[in-house]
Amino acid sequence: MCGIVGILATEAAAPQVVESLKRLEYRGYDSAGVAALEDGGIARVRAEGKLKNLTQKLQSHALLGHTAIGHTRWATHGKPTEDNAHPHATDRVAIVHNGIIENFRELRLELEKEGVIFSSETDTEVALHLVDRELRKLKDPVKAVAAALPRLKGAFALGFIFSGFEDLMIGARQGAPLAVGYGEGEMYLGSDALALAPFTDTVTYLEEGDWAVLSRNDVIFYDRTNAVVKRTKQKSGAGAYSIDKGNHRHFMAKEIAEQPEVVGRTLAHYLDMGLGEVRLPTPMPFDWKSLDRITITACGTACFSGMIAKYWFERFARLAVDIDVASEFRYREAPLQKNGLAIFISQSGETADTLAGLRYAKEQGQHIVSVVNVPTSTIARESDVVIPTLAGPEIGVASTKAFTCQLTALACLAIAAGRARGVLSETQERRLVTDLIAVPALMVEALKGEHAIEQVAHDMAKATDVLYLGRGTNFPLALEGALKLKEISYIHAEGYAAGELKHGPIALIDESLPVIVLAPHDAIYEKTVSNMQEVAARGGRIILISDHAGLSEAGLKPHAMIEMPKQNPDFAAIVYSVPVQLLAYHAAVALGKDVDQPRNLAKSVTVE
Ligand code: AGP
Repeated sequence: MCGIVGILATEAAAPQVVESLKRLEYRGYDSAGVAALEDGGIARVRAEGKLKNLTQKLQSHALLGHTAIGHTRWATHGKPTEDNAHPHATDRVAIVHNGIIENFRELRLELEKEGVIFSSETDTEVALHLVDRELRKLKDPVKAVAAALPRLKGAFALGFIFSGFEDLMIGARQGAPLAVGYGEGEMYLGSDALALAPFTDTVTYLEEGDWAVLSRNDVIFYDRTNAVVKRTKQKSGAGAYSIDKGNHRHFMAKEIAEQPEVVGRTLAHYLDMGLGEVRLPTPMPFDWKSLDRITITACGTACFSGMIAKYWFERFARLAVDIDVASEFRYREAPLQKNGLAIFISQSGETADTLAGLRYAKEQGQHIVSVVNVPTSTIARESDVVIPTLAGPEIGVASTKAFTCQLTALACLAIAAGRARGVLSETQERRLVTDLIAVPALMVEALKGEHAIEQVAHDMAKATDVLYLGRGTNFPLALEGALKLKEISYIHAEGYAAGELKHGPIALIDESLPVIVLAPHDAIYEKTVSNMQEVAARGGRIILISDHAGLSEAGLKPHAMIEMPKQNPDFAAIVYSVPVQLLAYHAAVALGKDVDQPRNLAKSVTVE
């Protein structure tokens, strides 16, 4: 939820820390701060709000120390004020923290009884004072951290520097990701490899319960029993990805525009285009034929991609799918048949609820397949099989290209299941693969309509509520459309299965309500036309997204029509994602909202 970084540099470290924080800001942007060792003490600069406020402050309060840690925050405990901003520090130690310390109340009481005065409302400060207390007793930072860590419960990653110890930094991982990076006479600590990419692409990912003691030329890894352990160095590959907006105004705009390319890249990973077959790069450790049903679990947009995939698994492989949001799945004690298959979908691979769901499914003897965009993430590491989406880093908080790449990978998986179960013939597989191969070009066509979509979005931005309707795979896309609009424009929106309209939401319809109808010309198109009749009869403003302009035959005239290229409807939801995303994007821009960093949100939700 927050981003942490630490640098043992050969020159002033603060500029590098800020550079790295820029790449972590997607994890949270309520406040930011840097602490550096200076003149044998600890100096800090912290600022409320986005990183640019910290950068401004650092211009007049430059930090010159070569040893520094930094933080960008998504507030959990305590308001996003400067007092609550990290790093927190005593005279002896400074800390940055991502995650939650669950037993902070009892620890705070214990420390307060001993006379410790807290200067923030954060859970983080208990970890600081625990280490400080041990440091006063033991006079040794490594021993102090070793003694304090077992007292902390929760899911977190921590970074520490110590006054008077220029060549020392300690990082600890329990439930939240942390990587050590290796430079030339420099060492780094970061929440992800992307944060360290400007300095190094050689990294070691800490394992659960690990902590690491870094100096400029060495690192020692300990496991949760404090035994020294070996951890492998690897190439992160993060340097290959540029983290800039290119010619685009926002990351979200860039990421929407990139979709034909990244969907194409994902397809190339899973398809033998020549033979017209799905070719999964990793063999599955189970027989598709032995499965009666599968479970899919995810959060937010990733869950909507799973809901769309449910239609594909059921249609192409005759495989029943149970799907649930991870925050429910993890607690509802779902009975799962041993040796079943549970699929987890996550862009970040770090979402706390999804990870907890995965662990539950593992305990229930499920084979775990994860569809993730970050192959080094915790969810990927704890899965039996990883199905990577090749979207590249997604920086905009609103998920776009990761969503369509999830759909692409899941479509391939469903076809593979259909073939393996003998439901799809070779010819049927080839037809579906041919349709999938056409998707990137269709997305290019859909993107060409951006200007017209922008006009519609400007009009829609005046509304206070918006309704999205769809059937089949376009029902979950309607849910996704409503989520996208809500999260970046703050316009209230609801998604419904078009057939559900008359069971309640129809009461909302009047002349002021835009109703976005996602209606490819498929077998159930006429059913959706009937729903549009119901909307039109009550004066609702229909915005039709379709490849079929024949509404006049039904005596209907939509308020606006976003024309889509003709395609086989099986994979229309992937292509129709483009106008859905663009509508939300342009509505938010028209309203002057912060599209890439909407209020109250963070990209990676690593707390429950
Ligand atoms: C999408 O626009 C959201 N910001 C959010 O719903 C997101 O999809 C969800 O938090 C899941 O994240 P994950 O894919 O990283 O697990």
